[in-house]
Amino acid sequence: MRLKDAGLTPQELKDMVNKYMVETYERYDFIAERAEGMYLYDEEGNAYLDFYGGVAVNSPGNRNEKVVAAIKDQVDDIMHTFNYPYTVPQALLAKKICDTIGMDKIFYQNSGTEANECMIKMARKYGIDHYGPERYHIITAKNGFHGRTYGALSATGQPDNAIQVGFKPVLPGFTYAEYNNLEDFASKVTENTIAIMIEPVQGEGGVHPATQEFIEGLRKLCDDNDMLLLFDEVQTGWGRTGAPMAYMGYGVKPDAVTMAKAMGGGMPIGACCATNKVASEFTAGTHGSTYGGHAVACAAALASVSEILDKDLSKNAKEVGEYMVQEMAKLPHVVEARGRGLLVGCEYDLPIAVEVKHEVFARKALITAIGDKVNRMIPPLIVTKEQVDELMGIMKEAIEAAVAKME
Ligand SMILES: Cc1ncc(COP(=O)(O)O)c(C=O)c1O
Repeated sequence: MRLKDAGLTPQELKDMVNKYMVETYERYDFIAERAEGMYLYDEEGNAYLDFYGGVAVNSPGNRNEKVVAAIKDQVDDIMHTFNYPYTVPQALLAKKICDTIGMDKIFYQNSGTEANECMIKMARKYGIDHYGPERYHIITAKNGFHGRTYGALSATGQPDNAIQVGFKPVLPGFTYAEYNNLEDFASKVTENTIAIMIEPVQGEGGVHPATQEFIEGLRKLCDDNDMLLLFDEVQTGWGRTGAPMAYMGYGVKPDAVTMAKAMGGGMPIGACCATNKVASEFTAGTHGSTYGGHAVACAAALASVSEILDKDLSKNAKEVGEYMVQEMAKLPHVVEARGRGLLVGCEYDLPIAVEVKHEVFARKALITAIGDKVNRMIPPLIVTKEQVDELMGIMKEAIEAAVAKME
């Protein structure tokens, strides 16, 4: 649906949003009407180079043609059934995902936060069923992010952030330890701890990849203490970090993992995958979702996941991501460029990240800011080195403009 079809001016549209919508987002001042590959287009047809990918969602490219075709095909047959009849898209997607990532079972949800609720519930039930009613505690990482529903926001180790402030008390049973600090995690384990849950790369927390030793150490800590290792791969999953799932790049398998974002290639879907040991906790009546496993979302996800695998977009993510980190380190005021694959961030010596984001936008490219010192780039995984060069040119000017404004 486009502005001219609605018979509105840009200002009328913005006024309508302000009047009728609860606004929790700081919007870019443009109307996104169309998207294709690496670009979004506004109502005047201006192109914006997309380095935020709908927040790490549009990994096979904006409106990837196979994803679009799968959606159209599925809509012509059946859209929604709830989960009583069998459907072909659910079954094909389940097999594709489980076979690819070495998990036994999948449970479909509609978003990342819901996928995490599912994983947290599975782990708590596993603990309570196997060890008694007190063993439901989960250690998560400080500065992590797991979503906005109550379980997920309670798992999010940021008690002083707007994510939690005003919503206390959070769900009991979560303890926070310092990311990449194995000793801190080990010191928080008690007889009631059933699981450790982390992101393999902290995305919303400022782009911090886990070290190899940390991931391996957590696996051993869990094995030694009969605990489950849970990975939140909502942002890192499906090619983003240079492997189909980030854990496959680390060579360390969790007991359960969540995914969303890139999985649907632009359609809302999430999932929790687990080994039989954990997945068997869920039996009839223990969990459910009206829309989870929606036929159109599953058909889109099958196309998205297949595109990412068939085109080996993980490989592109690794190569272009490494190039981007290398080039970003040369930008003025950057004290650290870091990332894994195409989950990339740069940290400045000045609090300019939000202004840089706006200056980049003024030059028709899209990036995100995390706090006031970090910009994050999470483009579609089809991005080329030439497009990275283009962004680096834009960012250099944007940084200089942002610094000039501070003076
Ligand atoms: C690691 C991680 N987990 C969970 C979520 C929540 O996902 P959703 O917004 O789909 O609920 C996000 C969203 O950014 C995320 O990055």
